[in-house]
Amino acid sequence: MPDLFSPYTLKGVTLRNRIAMSPMTMYNSVDGKLDDYHVSYLGARAAGGFGLVFGEQMAITPDGRTTTSCAGIWSDDQIEGHARVCAIVERMGGVPAIQLGHTGRKGSELPPHKGTNAQGTWKQLPPDHEHGWECVGPSAIPYGGGGHIYPVRELSVADIRALHQSYADAAKRALAAGYKWLEMHYAHGYLGASFFSPLANQRTDQYGGSVENRVRFHLEALDAVRAVWPEELPLTMRLGSDDLHPEGVQFEDAIVAIRMMKEHGLDLADLSLGFNTDEMTNPPMNEVGFMLKRANRVREEVGIPVATSWNLGVPANADRAIREELIDLVFLGRPALANPHWPVWAARELQHDDPFHLVPQDWAWWLRNFRGHGPSIGLPPAPPAAEGDKAA
Ligand SMILES: Cc1cc2nc3c(=O)[nH]c(=O)nc-3n(C[C@H](O)[C@H](O)[C@H](O)COP(=O)(O)O)c2cc1C
Repeated sequence: MPDLFSPYTLKGVTLRNRIAMSPMTMYNSVDGKLDDYHVSYLGARAAGGFGLVFGEQMAITPDGRTTTSCAGIWSDDQIEGHARVCAIVERMGGVPAIQLGHTGRKGSELPPHKGTNAQGTWKQLPPDHEHGWECVGPSAIPYGGGGHIYPVRELSVADIRALHQSYADAAKRALAAGYKWLEMHYAHGYLGASFFSPLANQRTDQYGGSVENRVRFHLEALDAVRAVWPEELPLTMRLGSDDLHPEGVQFEDAIVAIRMMKEHGLDLADLSLGFNTDEMTNPPMNEVGFMLKRANRVREEVGIPVATSWNLGVPANADRAIREELIDLVFLGRPALANPHWPVWAARELQHDDPFHLVPQDWAWWLRNFRGHGPSIGLPPAPPAAEGDKAA
């Protein structure tokens, strides 16, 4: 039976454990580039034991960013920063992973730490603002919800083809930089998510209507990337598999779509929500591991490896999800921000016999051998389990 610390092999890539640092937008780039900030932040997570290390959604075009201070991979002069990140992650024992995406109708934002809208969520900047632009989507329907209010331009078929070329060009750059794992971002209300959702996609051409049409954008992007991304390296995607809205994406649609993606070379499905509307029925945002059941259904019914994030930061819950073979990999977002050594801490909490096997071996020697490793080691004690954290 695997546990959180069992190695995991997908295609030609082996991770040292089942713990992935989930992609997280960092609002810390100039001209979309990665620099010392990202080398240090991502290198620290690899040194802390994460098996797979993602940076953030990397925009495939400048208008595919969330804000003008977000990162991307739309130009060759961005490769160098990515290569530095890949090198430090590998040196620290992790596998460097990239998430490619386009924010679609959820772009042109102000970084949230610089201000939010009246609802306390994302504030969109108007197209004529120095840090704003005109957003695009499958249809000319703004996201709304008080957050994204400016007009959206509907993409033409020629625009869609150009975006697929941008995905392929970005994948070639990712390969040149040294990434070993590539995830397409089709969740969280961004462009892929909105093509999949009838709430955002009301096209009447081959990209709208039936599930088969609403997933065409994704399949063509997968084909374009698979053509340049080596067969032995994992190609995965994160899907907005449910809008929790009667007129949005239904989970059954996701099963159909992932089956089709598997035929187009998908190696693993990372399950998330659609976030195509603020009007969700019973949003489960405080429930432990609320994507686990859906992810497991995909694993069983489609026969493809799966991962998920969302509220799996208590080590026993993450470990149980792997031991019970609900999912193949655990993705951690906020826990990775809070504690770069989450895997080492989790290994101690779960009474692994050698938690320090996860850090670079020169440190490990000191931590194992120098005057014991009692409370003075500086790792936090386990938090008392909150009511909702007790069952995964
Ligand atoms: C600051 C921040 C930025 C995020 N940016 C992205 C992103 O770029 N791409 C993405 O797929 N998810 C993004 N997410 C979502 C996380 O990857 C993750 O799915 C989510 O936080 C749930 O996992 P958690 O409960 O472990 O935090 C972001 C989350 C946070 C907190």
